Amino acid sequence: MKKIINDLSVYLSGNNESKTILFVHGFPFDHTMWQTQVDEFSKDYKCVSYDIRGLGESPAGDGQFTMESFVDDLETILDELKLNGSILCGLSMGGYISLRALEKMQERFSAAILCDTKSDADNNEGKLKRAAGIKRINKEGLAPFTKDFITNCFSNEFKQNRKEELQKIIEKSSQFNPVGVKGCLLAMLSRFDTTMNLGKINIPTLLICGEQDTLTPPPVMKDIFHKIKKAEFVEIQNAGHMTPIENPQVVNKAIRDFLIKNKL
Ligand code: MLT
Repeated sequence: MKKIINDLSVYLSGNNESKTILFVHGFPFDHTMWQTQVDEFSKDYKCVSYDIRGLGESPAGDGQFTMESFVDDLETILDELKLNGSILCGLSMGGYISLRALEKMQERFSAAILCDTKSDADNNEGKLKRAAGIKRINKEGLAPFTKDFITNCFSNEFKQNRKEELQKIIEKSSQFNPVGVKGCLLAMLSRFDTTMNLGKINIPTLLICGEQDTLTPPPVMKDIFHKIKKAEFVEIQNAGHMTPIENPQVVNKAIRDFLIKNKL
């Protein structure tokens, strides 16, 4: 079922009476990147996913986004759906949003699943890359940027063996509003570091990372793992940055084991 909350497209499925898993996607994707997880966990959980403002079917507006405004949107969804004690699951940019949400309001969640993400802010080189991305979109339109950015997110195996799937993902993201995509780049560029508060996270936290993730590689995620008290780390074989798409069976098993172990 699709619901519009504060202009955002929010998707609900599964058992309404059950605990909720709230999925926050990465950049420049939309809620459909979690389809395999939603299909699996809707069997016995309530699954909520949404399109981050500016991406998918959520409007870009003026594109003046910050990580803080993305967290405000997340909070609005929690309030509107009266969600407390849900399991927060974010990948990459969805992980940045999740880490800031945990800093601000971890009492609203019972557990967290952080996939292929990091707590550091962009360094100067990273900021310049974002700026070059914006410049490129202004000059060439969105498609060349999304093609290169998305291709870089996947492992070589995925790129070789699942060409059609990759092409579909690229085509979908190329249709997004460029204002929204650039707004997301600015929000990531200007986000702050959440590393110093990782030690304050005291809910069970599962960290998932693709063994071939070059954007947020396993050593980066292992650092986060060492700083969170109740953390578990699972490295996913045969996957790059987009673990839930690249190796969904293994990701789903890791999530299922984590939920069972922590009686969630
Ligand atoms: C993502 O997958 O959300 C992006 O790679 C995050 C980023 O560019 O920092």
